[in-house]
This record gives sequence, structure tokens and C-alpha cells, in this order.
Amino acid sequence: MHIRKAVITAAGWGTRFLPATKSQPKEMLPLLGKPIIQYSVEEAVACGVELVVIVTALGKRSMEDHFDRAFELEHFLEQHGKGKLAEEIRRVSNMVDICYVRQKEQLGLGHAVLTAKNVVGSEPFILFLPDDIFPDGATTLKKMMDICARYESSVLAVKEVPEEVVDRYGVIKPRKVEPRLYQAMELVEKPDREEAPSRLAIMGRYVLTPDIFRALELTRPGRGQEIQLTDGLQRLAHERTVYAYEFEGERYDAGTLKTWLETTIALALRDPELGPGLREYLGKLL
Ligand code: UTP
Repeated sequence: MHIRKAVITAAGWGTRFLPATKSQPKEMLPLLGKPIIQYSVEEAVACGVELVVIVTALGKRSMEDHFDRAFELEHFLEQHGKGKLAEEIRRVSNMVDICYVRQKEQLGLGHAVLTAKNVVGSEPFILFLPDDIFPDGATTLKKMMDICARYESSVLAVKEVPEEVVDRYGVIKPRKVEPRLYQAMELVEKPDREEAPSRLAIMGRYVLTPDIFRALELTRPGRGQEIQLTDGLQRLAHERTVYAYEFEGERYDAGTLKTWLETTIALALRDPELGPGLREYLGKLL
């Protein structure tokens, strides 16, 4: 199935990363050489998406500037013999069409998704939570798009997490359908550890059918007084089947100082240019 549109929610306050995020968006913090949000945009492009909808908010204009042309900078780089860098800067602005919708109040992830309703319209779409970095994301999403096409239903990415951290995630009660594929019978946002229906946690990639918007419109504020996407999906799951795909491969969290640091190190160690030097440096430190 060809999915034309992707939504990237990037309107949150990023409180777990303060004060670094006081005057710059969390999504613009670097991960190796590029801002966090660029990973999601590139993954969307690799999935064949034609329009990326970024949900943004007050004080986050630097994301728009990042994906815009920068003629003066390109000219400067070319004049100074840095044509390759100029080419890379141009590539970032030419990757894909991007439009921005503003979430005027940070009422939660579910509300942020709802903000994109009129731009998405009545077609399935991919949802990216940009803090979550999937090195093999396009492979995972292509499988999820196939499942969405086969069952004409929404599909969430899930991964088994240790019991001690299950209360940090949305968690599903699974019914096995085929290897690595479950029906999500119930979905609970950040359950108490004793009450978690499983250890299958929802990670930041979704292929959603447009009826999620109506479900979200009917969803009242839940945990943290926020309109939770998980609660909207729970409502949807009671009306029709919602699937959860247990993806293979890694997923990193760039949303807090500690996990951003871990993600940076993990990605750098995988990088052919940075990896060997970093490994040697870490060896000296330890
Ligand atoms: P988080 O739970 O990570 O919230 O949101 P946050 O505001 O980014 O960070 P903390 O928890 O305060 O540190 C998950 C995703 O949902 C988006 C965020 O930008 C992030 O991509 N989001 C969250 C919104 O777009 N709007 C909201 O009202 C809440």
C-alpha cells in the first residue's frame, strides 16, 4: 500500500530536557551531525511519503528554518570551496514537501495528532514520535504498511521491555494473530507495574487509519490531564481491530538527557567514521 502522508508531532515542551529546551526545540538538539527531527523526516522519505506534516508550536520556528532553503549560506559555502557541504545543506531542504500545523495549547499527544486532521484528510498515514530513533525504521514501517493494507486497520510498533520500565510506556494486552503480530485487545497509558497487561510497550511509529481522528475527538483528558493517543487507540480498538507489530531491531530514546546521551554513543559506535575513534577514547576513559 502506498501511504502519501506522515505526521511528526513536535509540539511538546520537552520538560525532561530542561534547561536545554528552554529556548530551543528538543527536536532540534543534535544526534551526531543532524537534529533529532531530521531522522524522522528521512525515514518518511525512505518510506515513499510525499507530504510530511510537522505539528509545531510557539518558539519552535527553527525547525521550519532547518528544512527551508538557505541561499546565502549555500552561496557562502560555494565561494569558500565547500561545495559538498553546500550540496548537503540543499539536500535537507529538497527532501520532501513539508507543511506545518500549530498546536496552540500543549494538551497532549492525542491532541497534537488531532491538530493534523484537516491536512491528513481521509487516508491512512504514518505517525512519527521523533524522540524515538529507529535505525531500521523504514524496514519496520514497510512491514507495518503491508499489515495495514492487508487488514485495513491501524498498526502500532511494539517491543518487549523489562518489567521495571513498563510504567513509562503505553502497553497493550495482546492476542497473538501470527508470528510478531498481535491484536491489541486493550491499551493502557503508563500502567502501574502490577497492573500492566503485558510487557509489550508501544514505541514511536504508527500506521493509522483516519478513523483515529474521530476516536480522538471523543477522548477526554486522561493521564497527566492530557489527551492521550493511547486512550484514543483504546477507543478505536473497541470498535474495530487494532494491530501491534513486534518489530525487530533497535529503538533508541532521545527524549531525556540520559537516554539522549546513550543514543548518541550507540549511534556513534555504529558509525564507520566515528565508531573506531570513539571506542578507543571510551576505552581510555574507563
Ligand atoms: P513527550 O511525552 O515526550 O512530551 O511527547 P514532551 O513535551 O516532548 O517532553 P516532556 O515529557 O515534557 O519531557 C511525545 C511526543 O508528543 C509530542 C512531543 O513533541 C513528542 O514528540 N507532543 C506531546 C506534542 O506534540 N504535543 C503535546 O501536547 C504533547
